[in-house]
Amino acid sequence: MYNLVVMDKQINIQEALDWYLWAGVDETCSDLLCLTNSEEINRPAPATAAVERIAEVKPAISVQSFAVVSKNAREICAKAQNLQELRDIMLNFEGCNLKKTAASTVFGDGADKARVMLIGEAPGADEDRIGKPFVGRCGKLLDKMFKAVQLERSECYITNVLPWRPPGNRTPTDDEIAVCLPFLKRQIELIEPDFILLLGGISLKSVMDVADSISRTRGKWLEYNTNSGKSIKVLATYHPSYLLRSTAQKSKVWADLLRLKIKMKETAE
Ligand code: URA
Repeated sequence: MYNLVVMDKQINIQEALDWYLWAGVDETCSDLLCLTNSEEINRPAPATAAVERIAEVKPAISVQSFAVVSKNAREICAKAQNLQELRDIMLNFEGCNLKKTAASTVFGDGADKARVMLIGEAPGADEDRIGKPFVGRCGKLLDKMFKAVQLERSECYITNVLPWRPPGNRTPTDDEIAVCLPFLKRQIELIEPDFILLLGGISLKSVMDVADSISRTRGKWLEYNTNSGKSIKVLATYHPSYLLRSTAQKSKVWADLLRLKIKMKETAE
């Protein structure tokens, strides 16, 4: 049992955490302990000129370090000769801020020579806790939909654009996506699937770099070419989390999964 002394008051950490959980706070957004006291609250806001100076400097720093980090990510990922090596590289990679707040690094899961690769957005709370992609509510829905078209999850490799959960499931930033993309692209090259199913708009935009929305692009066959010269058939569809909110759209995903199933049969050796 640990106690924390804050402004002469003893706080029992276990009790404080229990209280936060009870109040619905189930994650931390920083590894820094922030204590707000009346002095902080009463401190005058910085002068506008100082705020503007900070705002001017910040982007220049982050753009430069982002370029270095993303180049580094591309170089180290290219060295991985198999999925295990890539996973080890990812576990040691410290270039993405999301890793600091995530509990797990969620690498892809499934057959390493799968015909179909599914790409979601990022781990949710359950995936972050368990360390595997699509094991929570979205994963359960995906399993049901797969079963309905007689597709086996064991025939697939399943992964995400981001291996780390953004705090509170917020939308990832463009920089976060760009830094993580080399890991995803290397997974595609190592697995060399015949088909990719993109789940949701973030996955579509990140992998195919298309400006069009998911609702206009879903259900249409696209093509992804790897550096090693393999052409992969790509289909985008709605993300299961969207279907949990908008059940009326399920029939469209059902139609997309059938499209995939038919194409898989047509091209089976
Ligand atoms: N949503 C995703 O995009 N990926 C997961 O792994 C889980 C939920």
